[in-house]
Amino acid sequence: MRFNTIKYMEWAKLNQHIHPVSFDLSNSAMAPPTPEEIGVTAEDAHWEGENHYGHPVLKELIAKRYGVKEEMIIPSGGSSLANFLFAAALLDTGDKAAIEVPYYEPLGKILEALEAKVIEVPRRREEKFQPDVDAATKAFEKGAKLLILTDLYNPAAVHLDRARLKAIGESAAKHGAKVLVDEVYLDAMWDKRPPIAATLGPQFLSTNSLTKVYGLGNLRAGWGIGPKDLVDRAYRVYDYLSVLNSMPTDNVAIRCHRNLDKLAARSRKRRDEHFPILKKWVASRKDVEWIEPEWGFIAWLRLTSRATSDRLEPVLRKKYDAQVAPGHYFGCPDHIRVGIGLAKEKLEEGLKRLGKALDEFAGA
Ligand SMILES: Cc1ncc(COP(=O)(O)O)c(C=O)c1O
Repeated sequence: MRFNTIKYMEWAKLNQHIHPVSFDLSNSAMAPPTPEEIGVTAEDAHWEGENHYGHPVLKELIAKRYGVKEEMIIPSGGSSLANFLFAAALLDTGDKAAIEVPYYEPLGKILEALEAKVIEVPRRREEKFQPDVDAATKAFEKGAKLLILTDLYNPAAVHLDRARLKAIGESAAKHGAKVLVDEVYLDAMWDKRPPIAATLGPQFLSTNSLTKVYGLGNLRAGWGIGPKDLVDRAYRVYDYLSVLNSMPTDNVAIRCHRNLDKLAARSRKRRDEHFPILKKWVASRKDVEWIEPEWGFIAWLRLTSRATSDRLEPVLRKKYDAQVAPGHYFGCPDHIRVGIGLAKEKLEEGLKRLGKALDEFAGA
């Protein structure tokens, strides 16, 4: 194992929490609800109960919501942990594994940490950021035991086309490989959300959490869903890491899952109000272009002036007290990722400041 620094994570922790700016457009999550908004009280955070192979009530609620059997679920501290558990349960040192490119850096770092030989599966702008099925097929032919994808795609927020996903799944099944779909943004399709990947066949694994769509990142309440044999192996990996989920977290998560429709309505309202603000801003600019995302709280903007994310970042931070997620952490310095989950006044002012910072590069 090799745990190299996840540069984006270091950046995000320092800049979002230790040295925050006033106008933070880098966050990909909905802003957190208050306990009152979820109906959580201090009494919910108790530690009674049994959760040795996942809290039974939590598994029951997740199973019902996503249409899977309880034995297919491993609750975990965030989808990040579920991703790691599944990858570690599947891969041995030197195994081949594939990942979408560009990717959210922590996902690639899991493969690096497990010392896998990494094969890239492009998601090209010309293909509206859908994954290249031929490249995925070739990766499986070369022996990749796992392919990691995201849906909605981080950074561009596009929904993974079902025909492509099924074609990729067929190829994976033929070669005995698995497809892990990180669906941490997928619930933002609201009532249009299709059945999750893990319901499409035993070659698929889904991961998710309450972090992004529901704004509950600080709770650390996620889960993985997959075929029972792999979930059982993931529980064995968990024994090395934390043994159990925190019981107060599970008990609060149970309350949140019971009130998830209410939380979703809150998030949906914000998305419906904030996306047009971003859309208007993008239309007003000659120096950014995008593939307009239909869902979610993020947008992936290509910089068409001479601004690059690494040059823009210090100007935006130091002079304008604002930030976006820099594209260079995705290997794309000609892009930035903008989040719209924050308060409306902050979003409007943040976009104004982003515009001013970009103006500085107009003739640069
Ligand atoms: C694709 C993806 N997966 C997982 C996470 C982290 O989620 P969690 O808080 O559930 O670990 C993020 C956060 O940015 C993400 O973009």
